[in-house]
Amino acid sequence: MIKPHGSSTLNPLFVYDVEKHHALMQEAEGLPSITVSSAAAANAVMMGAGYFNPLTGYMNAADAVGCAENMQTTAGLFFPVPVLNLVEEIITISGASRIALRDPNVEGNPVLAIQDIEAIEEITDEQMQTMTSQVFGTTDSNHPGVAAFNSQGRFAISGAIQVLNFSYFQTDFPDTFRTAVEIRNEIKEHGWEKVVAFQTRNPMHRAHEELCKMALEALNADGVVIHMLLGKLKQGDIPAPVRDASIRKMAELYFPANTVMITGYGFDMLYAGPREAVLHALFRQNMGASHLIVGRDHAGVGDYYGAFDAQTIFDEQVPEGALEIEIFKADHTAYSKKLNRVVMMRDAPDHSKEDFVLLSGTKVREMLGQGIAPPAEFSRPEVAKILSDYYQSLDS
Ligand code: ADX
Repeated sequence: MIKPHGSSTLNPLFVYDVEKHHALMQEAEGLPSITVSSAAAANAVMMGAGYFNPLTGYMNAADAVGCAENMQTTAGLFFPVPVLNLVEEIITISGASRIALRDPNVEGNPVLAIQDIEAIEEITDEQMQTMTSQVFGTTDSNHPGVAAFNSQGRFAISGAIQVLNFSYFQTDFPDTFRTAVEIRNEIKEHGWEKVVAFQTRNPMHRAHEELCKMALEALNADGVVIHMLLGKLKQGDIPAPVRDASIRKMAELYFPANTVMITGYGFDMLYAGPREAVLHALFRQNMGASHLIVGRDHAGVGDYYGAFDAQTIFDEQVPEGALEIEIFKADHTAYSKKLNRVVMMRDAPDHSKEDFVLLSGTKVREMLGQGIAPPAEFSRPEVAKILSDYYQSLDS
């Protein structure tokens, strides 16, 4: 199986040893503590689950700025985004060398992790701006990822962490949430070698389904791991349980048995387009995927990125050999009325726009909200039903 990023074995930061875990939980109760941002909590979950291997904790300012500017830490580790614990206030932890990190997303703010403090640095406005513009390609506060990043505090607490739970992800999505360790194990159990990962934050329509099937066939892969984001999204996006149900239905009805795994990970969407695509590739390598599908406007939002920027970044900015996972680059995919099947547009050069069934996200939402199913060429009827029920429940 593909090796993890940056080390020969995966080193998840979750404390699996039961006795050690118990002792740390007890210790945490006596430690100074701080409630962290949702982004920092998501970073802890990702490190706990092994997805951010080989990081051992939150970055300091120099590493974070280095990762933002040229995708590497001061020690030369390839990492495409800063992984920070940015807080507003440090009074409660003043003088401490070890602190408990409390979860902002679970009632009662239970302890999520314990952190050894390497340094507390105040991030300057200039550093904040550099990181924002490098990672998101914009500093526009209307960009949901920029807004979330900048809404955090300015004190960066760096240092190693020990993760004690997986926030709300394991409790809210017991069948879908997986750690990178679990996915590696399941891939092994299936006996898969060539494994395609599919990133998604949306329900899956025909185009998404066919992209997975096209990748399976073109790569002669053993299986596809549909890996959905379970963390926070911008307003208007479809909640994870609804996406989960619709994706499960699609896989059950339209994929051959034993070719697909339905899974999810606990991270808030960055909407960072190309940079997020590189992060996506890195953590899919850590979970054991040999390929990642990157299609049109991957991890994008609005008009901030070019439709295929998330593909070209791998050729233009990711150094040769930085990652082992390979990218399956997909063109805009849609149903062809001429060929009566879903195709990539580059494979149908004689087509004009009118030859495809193309519907905007807004149009689809509108139809579903009115209880009208989009055409079967666009959406499987069983998937449309689940989504339509959801949209209609919003009106009632
Ligand atoms: S994402 O933010 O998670 O990337 P989404 O769930 O919509 O958004 O997309 C999942 C993957 O499918 C991404 O790689 C995206 O580029 C790709 N994709 C979605 N729709 C299409 C399409 N019509 N044609 C080609 N690729 C697509």
